[in-house]
Amino acid sequence: MLVSVTEMLKKAKEGKYAVGQFNINNLEWTKAILLTAQECNSPVILGVSEGAGKYMTGFKTVVNMVNGMLEGLKITVPVAVHLDHGSYQGALDAIDAGFSSIMFDGSHYPIDENIEKTKELVALANSKGISVEAEVGSIGGEEDGVVGAGEVADPAECKMIADLGVDILAAGIGNIHGKYPENWQGLNFEVLEEISRATHPMPLVLHGGTGIPEDMIKRAISLGVSKINVNTECQLAFAAATRKYVEAGKDLEGKGFDPRKLLAPGFEAIKATVKEKMELFGSVGKA
Ligand code: 13P
Repeated sequence: MLVSVTEMLKKAKEGKYAVGQFNINNLEWTKAILLTAQECNSPVILGVSEGAGKYMTGFKTVVNMVNGMLEGLKITVPVAVHLDHGSYQGALDAIDAGFSSIMFDGSHYPIDENIEKTKELVALANSKGISVEAEVGSIGGEEDGVVGAGEVADPAECKMIADLGVDILAAGIGNIHGKYPENWQGLNFEVLEEISRATHPMPLVLHGGTGIPEDMIKRAISLGVSKINVNTECQLAFAAATRKYVEAGKDLEGKGFDPRKLLAPGFEAIKATVKEKMELFGSVGKA
């Protein structure tokens, strides 16, 4: 059974570790992440953007696929299916389809409107046991065609949104989606500390987990980050492993063109990436 993120992240915050949100794109991605979570005895959050949801033919397909895998693969660790960067309508659709957690990204609305819409969604989601992540200060970089400016969140605004009853809060602290540029300034730990103090005991979310150096990840966790989102890194690992297979001409040997063979190196690469992150985030053995 899918669970919300409330309990798993409360435990993570108390235990000073973070649970990874890994975005899914298809069956191979989902299977790789679920199997790794089970092998690592780690809770896990499957992130689904609206674009990826559409690609997989809709939120209902996603929920049915994940539920089928929980049974078929005998997954017993806590698993949440979480809408990543949802619009207002997307959040309503995900709740309707059976997601166990949603993110409403109202960061591009004026703060008053962000508050109004967040409140409505919190009331609806919480009445169904579904957790809600809100965002203050847009995360930079590009996510599904939406380009964010990478603002640093205002701790007072974070406090306002946290007080609306959301379960977890994503705050921009200089993090961006995708690869970090050479001249990246790093995470803004002073602001993270202020936000953490203002919103305590709310678990905080760090987006743009790809490419953040290990020491920064550990420091962020020590300052109250309990959920870390990783997407691009699994995509890069999958692409590199698949490229290697094809460039070595393996798809031309025997039945190497069989999708179950062709996609196997990429599948293993996702598993290795997820395992590495779970170890770094400290969630291994915490299921
Ligand atoms: P990356 O693609 O940079 O890992 O970011 C993922 C993310 O934050 C999804 O919301």
